[in-house]
Formats: sequence, C-alpha cells, structure tokens
Amino acid sequence: MSSQNIYILGIESSCDDTAASIMHNGRILSNVVASQKIHEEYGGVVPELASRAHQQNIVPVVHQALKKANITKDKISAIAFTRGPGLMGSLLVGTSFAKSLAYGLNIPLIDVNHMQGHILAHFIEEDGFKKPPFPFLAMTISGGHTQIVRVNNYFDMTVIGETIDDAVGEAFDKSGKILGLGYPAGPEIDKRAKLGNPKAFLFTKPKVDGLNFSFSGLKTAILYFIQKETKANLNFIEENLNDVCASIQYTIIGILIDKLKIASKQTGIKHIAIGGGVSANSGIRQALKDGEQKFGWTTYIPKFEFTTDNAAMIAIVGYLKFLENDFAEQNIAASARLKI
Ligand code: KG4
Ligand code: ZN
Repeated sequence: MSSQNIYILGIESSCDDTAASIMHNGRILSNVVASQKIHEEYGGVVPELASRAHQQNIVPVVHQALKKANITKDKISAIAFTRGPGLMGSLLVGTSFAKSLAYGLNIPLIDVNHMQGHILAHFIEEDGFKKPPFPFLAMTISGGHTQIVRVNNYFDMTVIGETIDDAVGEAFDKSGKILGLGYPAGPEIDKRAKLGNPKAFLFTKPKVDGLNFSFSGLKTAILYFIQKETKANLNFIEENLNDVCASIQYTIIGILIDKLKIASKQTGIKHIAIGGGVSANSGIRQALKDGEQKFGWTTYIPKFEFTTDNAAMIAIVGYLKFLENDFAEQNIAASARLKI
C-alpha cells in the first residue's frame, strides 16, 4: 500500500472554522484554517453567521490548501469531509461542497466523524510524535464535547464517559465571559493562569458518578463567587484576574485528571491520549505528562496545530478509510448528532 501515492483532501466545517488539508500517504502537505472572527462580537458562535462565513471561505481555503501542498486537484485520490457532529448549517456547506467536487472529479467521497478525527489525529505521520498502540484511552476535550473513549482499533471505539451538561471548553468560555474576557476565553485563561496562583481560590469539584463529567455547577459557583467578591470590592476581578484564572484552570484540570485516573484503573489501560481544542491548554498538557511519573501512564499529546478544529485530522481519517475501501455514497447526508 505504501508504494501507492494516495492524496486525500480533507474538509472540516462543523463549527466556526473552515478548514482544508492535503495529505499524502498519511503525511500532511498543507493544513489551512480560516477561523471566523465574526463570533467574537457575540461572545459565542452564531450558527447562521457561521454557515454564511463557511460559504464565503470554503473555495479560497481549499484553493490555498492545494497551492500550499503544491499539487493540482486532478492529483487528489479522494475527498474526506466532516459529516458530523456539529452545527447543521455549517456541516451542510462542507458536505455539499465535498460531494460536488468529488462528483466533478469523479473520485471517491469519504465521510468522517469529527470526534474520531480528534482522536485519530494521533496517527498523522509526524516526526517526533509517537502513535498510541491499541487499546488506548482518548479523552476528547473541546468546545462541544467532553468524552473518554476506549479505542480498540481505528474504527472500533466506545465512549465510556461523557459530560452530562456543558463541555469542558464551555466551562472555560463561560467562566471567561463572567470575568469579562473575549470569546473563546480558553486561550486567554491559559495565558493568565501561568501568571497566577492555582490555589488562591477554591472551587468545589462536582460529584458525578462513574466516568461522566459535569461542568455546569462549576460555572454557577464561579458566577456566585465573582458576584459576592465584586460586591465587597468593585475592582476584585481586575486585581485578582490571574489568580482567578489559575484557580479555575486548576479545578478543571483536577476534574479531568480524576476521571482519567478512574478510567485507567477500571480498564487497566495506561496509554492515554488527549484531543480537541482544550488539549491546547498548557496546564492539561503538563498534568498529563506528570501522569507518566505519578501513575505510570504513557501519554500522547497532539501537535498544537492538530488540537483545535482542523482538516488534517479529517484527512487522516479519510486516509485510513481509503486504505479499507470504506467510501460514502453521493446521497449521504450531514448528521448534527452523529455518534462515535
Ligand atoms: O475543538 P475545538 O476547536 O472546537 C470544537 O469542536 O468545539 O475547541 C474549541 C474550544 C473552545 O472552547 C476554546 O476555548 C478551547 O477549545 N481552547 C482552550 C485552549 N485553546 C482552545 N481551552 C483552554 N486552553 C486553551 N489553550
Ligand atoms: Zn472539534
């Protein structure tokens, strides 16, 4: 197989990033992402605006991916696109674009589950990055999802724990909103947390059975805490922002690591990978690394550019499916609530 020249065009449009990537035999040649700035003004993603921006961005983004990869479109072996989960209006843009281009070029179409993309991003050929052996545990942490997945093989995965309310990325973003930070607040909280004391303020962790998560209580606790403190001191946020960010991040990381510890114990699996936008967080990266010493884990942390939404992760799933001749029909439909 490896002697073949397989070029995959990956397309991602599930939320507010329009992305395209060209992959050659599992290696990335280009990885282009157009992030939609428009949502910053609204403090969150506005689905209707997202879908309109995807329509404007998709052709130039694909064009740029081809140009950066230095190939012409007749070289593409197959087109992989995000079928779901995500916002329906956003998914429709990528899905219909992928379908028409595949039809026009007379090449196969491959449907990809976005969450599998976050997990299988670990199989992109990258110098200096090792691939996890099966079975491994993957914790997907993003703005829309928080799951612990037992990965038995590329396409044999079981969700063994997930959030019962907000996703962890929402916990970062909503806390940031309370503190008056811009959207998305995750990266800003991360930056400020490095300058603050993680034990300055104590937030209680939610009690959720088994491997499931809950983050909505934490958001409320932070809201009440900030309301109480600003009542006593109007400048509380200003004077304590770094410490508050560090304490919030410390609490969130504690929640995630606690569940991973239980999952690892229950399954006996010590190979642990993370994926999704929140895996860009420097604190969670460090906590996972520390788990190698503390709990005997071997950990897999994605390259920074493959953490937040991107099309390289869609292209790698496309490549793996291509090797298995697993193609989609032209009448395939986007699916907002697609499960792993
Ligand atoms: O995977 P992603 O790009 O989109 C979804 O599929 O949701 O994740 C976006 C989420 C946002 O909530 C954002 O605040 C969070 O990832 N995020 C971070 C960091 N970078 C992005 N959260 C904490 N620390 C970061 N450095
Ligand atoms: Zn994502």
